[in-house]
Amino acid sequence: MGAGKSSTARELGGIDADDLVESAAGKPIAELFRGEGEAAFRTLEEQTIVLALGGGAVTSPAVRDALGDALTIWLDVDVDTCWERVKGSDRPLAQDEAAFRRLYDERRALYADVADVVARDADDVVLAVAGVQVERGALRQLGELVPGEGPVALVSDPQVAGIHGMDAQLALGSRLAETHELPPGEEAKTLTALDRLWQELRLDRSGTIVALGGGCTTDAAGFAAASYLRGIAWTPVPTSLVAQVDAAIGGKTAIDLPQGKNLVGAFHWPGRTVVDPGLLETLPEPQRLEGMAEVVKAGLLANEPFWELPDDELVRRSVAFKAAICLRDPHERGERAVLNLGHTFAHALEAAAGYEGVTHGRAVALGLLAALRLSGRDTGVVEEVLRPRPVRVDRERAWQAMRRDKKVRGGEIRLVLLGPDGPQTGVVLPETDVRRELDRLIA
Ligand SMILES: NC(=O)c1ccc[n+]([C@@H]2O[C@H](COP(=O)([O-])OP(=O)(O)OC[C@H]3O[C@@H](n4cnc5c(N)ncnc54)[C@H](O)[C@@H]3O)[C@@H](O)[C@H]2O)c1
Ligand SMILES: [Zn+2]
Repeated sequence: MGAGKSSTARELGGIDADDLVESAAGKPIAELFRGEGEAAFRTLEEQTIVLALGGGAVTSPAVRDALGDALTIWLDVDVDTCWERVKGSDRPLAQDEAAFRRLYDERRALYADVADVVARDADDVVLAVAGVQVERGALRQLGELVPGEGPVALVSDPQVAGIHGMDAQLALGSRLAETHELPPGEEAKTLTALDRLWQELRLDRSGTIVALGGGCTTDAAGFAAASYLRGIAWTPVPTSLVAQVDAAIGGKTAIDLPQGKNLVGAFHWPGRTVVDPGLLETLPEPQRLEGMAEVVKAGLLANEPFWELPDDELVRRSVAFKAAICLRDPHERGERAVLNLGHTFAHALEAAAGYEGVTHGRAVALGLLAALRLSGRDTGVVEEVLRPRPVRVDRERAWQAMRRDKKVRGGEIRLVLLGPDGPQTGVVLPETDVRRELDRLIA
């Protein structure tokens, strides 16, 4: 009582059970029906109903029984906080403080017994539902964290393999069946690299691909998992800040084509995602700044300064923020569009630079400046945390790229901006205003 179950459930209430089924299945419901039949859908459906149980519910053996295989999350909040929230209310079991504290103590052992996961707050609940483990030192527990019992193929990039590969191999122990290396950087996201990986893989359908590396590794290895044998399980272990807070969250996997980035891919939600913020200690500063651009973006959208938090919390909050949106909109048909804050401008700058010399993080930082200015907001945060310098690109080329952007519908540029009540998508502004802000980003 008073732990915040109801408000958390309300927050999760935005999560539609069908969407949860789609996330768990990694495919639209219609496709699940066609491919695996209604029974498969019902099984997943049974697993994805979110229930807020009253504090006394699990004292009943029948309820405990009914919970069966359900993921049971204990929202563990200290007794003082709970009492603060319920005292003076008309709840019958919250009239006497001593009795309330006694009840709290009595029930803890039972909760610990019933729970699969202990959550401190709503973010922990989201992470548990999304299957994301955020914990310093998690890499060392990888063997237990990868779901199932089948063999594992470890896929990493050469740099990360040299730094963290041995720890991953030791943690996987006897489950490790094969190791593979992708080429470094975007080279991993090519058909050539994928072709080699597909041909080298020996796993059968009981196997799991573990992707250890930055966003390029998780994107490419994730797509290998989505396509090899028509799709097998995978567990990303993101090692860069970009991958931890963005690329490895949300189930999108992809490789590039000569015509553009991320043009071939699949939605393939991992059974578990293992995020170890301790791995960021070996990340070079410029790569960290790349990730901070997405952390600042998430914080602006959430209206909370995630960027001020120490690493472990900064990662946990940013991951939970993105995961909640992706659970509610697994196939990017609606709400997920808010994650494009600053990105319409960023993509235009990257395209104008021919994807050379302007990193995505720097382009996003500049794009956030433009989005904030057009939203009538202060830009101090972006300037202080990301220190973006204007880019040297052709103005006309950038403008044309912006007009071609995929979010252009009916000839209008649709932007994500921050309104008084939160993010707004599909905002259309006079072209002269948009072009003026784009121009300010160019040296
Ligand atoms: N799927 C999605 O939703 C999504 C979202 C955002 C970005 N992405 C993709 O992610 C990619 C960019 O990811 P990235 O910025 O991580 O690039 P990356 O994978 O190339 O990693 C950047 C560099 O950091 C190194 N590195 C990574 N972790 C390290 C560590 N712990 N210690 C030392 N070095 C480390 C890598 O070896 C590499 O040299 C892009 O291809 C982008 O399209 C995908
Ligand atoms: Zn981005």
